[in-house]
Amino acid sequence: MNKTVNIAIVGLGQIGNFLYNEINKKRKEIKIKTGKNIKIIAISAKNPKKKRKFNINKKIFFKNPIEIIRKKKIDILFEVIGTPDGISKKIVEMCIKKKIHVITPNKALISKHGNKLSKLAEKNKINLEFEASVAGGIPVIRTIKEGLATNTINKVYGILNGTCNYILSEMENTKDNFKNVLKKAQYLGYAEQGNPKLDLNGYDAFAKVRILSSLAFNKKISHAKCLMDGIENIEYKDIEIASQLNFRIKLLGITELIENQLFERVHPCLVKKNSYIGNVNGVMNAVILNGQPIGESILQGEGAGPGPTSSALMSDLLSILRGNIKYPFGISDKERKKPKPYDIRKYLNSLYFRFEVKDKPGVLSLITKQLANYNISVERLVQIPDHKNKTASIVIITHKSSENNAQNCMKLFRSNKYILKKPTLIRLL
Ligand SMILES: NC(=O)c1ccc[n+]([C@@H]2O[C@H](COP(=O)([O-])OP(=O)(O)OC[C@H]3O[C@@H](n4cnc5c(N)ncnc54)[C@H](OP(=O)(O)O)[C@@H]3O)[C@@H](O)[C@H]2O)c1
Repeated sequence: MNKTVNIAIVGLGQIGNFLYNEINKKRKEIKIKTGKNIKIIAISAKNPKKKRKFNINKKIFFKNPIEIIRKKKIDILFEVIGTPDGISKKIVEMCIKKKIHVITPNKALISKHGNKLSKLAEKNKINLEFEASVAGGIPVIRTIKEGLATNTINKVYGILNGTCNYILSEMENTKDNFKNVLKKAQYLGYAEQGNPKLDLNGYDAFAKVRILSSLAFNKKISHAKCLMDGIENIEYKDIEIASQLNFRIKLLGITELIENQLFERVHPCLVKKNSYIGNVNGVMNAVILNGQPIGESILQGEGAGPGPTSSALMSDLLSILRGNIKYPFGISDKERKKPKPYDIRKYLNSLYFRFEVKDKPGVLSLITKQLANYNISVERLVQIPDHKNKTASIVIITHKSSENNAQNCMKLFRSNKYILKKPTLIRLL
């Protein structure tokens, strides 16, 4: 790489805008640390007239980002648009083929096309870096690829979505319902205004889990069907009851190898109040890694927002400027085997059920009998009557039970006239 390095930033939204300023601010520091002079020679966004937080140099603005790749001599391009396919994929592919290094925080793109893109990057001997795609500012990808390079990792889990963690923490703090707290999160900029669904339904965390699995277990990114539940159906009542039982509810992303089969999942979990993960609150993210010989390692920090995300993007930039071509997923594509998926039906876990029922004699025994028919045994039971409405909440924590039996048993409860709504199921960690 030459002493002067030409950079392009495509996408000037929340992240790209901040990054543009950050690179300009840190130019001198980058020169000291890497010996390189960096120069932003091209930028692009959809709307050239949009008012942005920082003044941008109109002379280097391109309405069509493809023109940058065709016409300018660039060494490194930041893809900060964020689509899983379309323009983001096209730009990244074009760059790799033209031997332009790529840095992106785009987890949707990497989790979907990471296998193909990393193979292409390896073939063209360029760097494809995506530290900011998982857990924002927390350097978890570099930690796995470099800091833990020779560890055998068997499990990675954590809080990977700050929006959900904020909502669950705030529901507990304010005793308010999901809808109101979501509105507050949107007002504060913690949840998307337009469509926050991808954060709330677990998809965002799941894309990160896919990337983590691939790095931690040295496998191809899996595209197998998986267990994914969001937080949309969690009610304040669940948080309150969980608290009385000494638990908190957290949306966790979990990936592990069980008998060399890959088990990936995202769902709300009951975690012990006095556990580490039970005390990671608000917009914070945390990732816990179990490996040999390191043992358990915990990384915690801000998982989103322009500052933390740009911090990770800058670390990718310095890594490239310092030289050497690296495999995007730590090892060569040839060594990354397709993972065998774990059969979720075999999974045994303790479960929390909440049934909203008519307060009539016999309803409780009907529920416990039905559970027993499916080999689901009760460890704890709490009954909370609502005398005014002649209803009750019945909460059951089970011994380890099969996921398959739990799902089948749930279906039967839905058609019972004494059970007023679909029961809530939350898994214990
Ligand atoms: N926001 C976070 O906290 C966060 C955290 C971690 C990772 N990320 C990732 O960072 C990426 C960017 O997120 P963001 O929050 O910055 O998104 P954003 O605010 O929606 O910004 C997207 C940018 O892309 C531009 N764009 C859209 N289509 C384009 C096109 N055809 N050509 C050129 N530019 C185009 C938009 O232009 P206009 O401005 O003109 O509309 C906008 O500047 C995503 O991959 C996201 O997952 C974000």
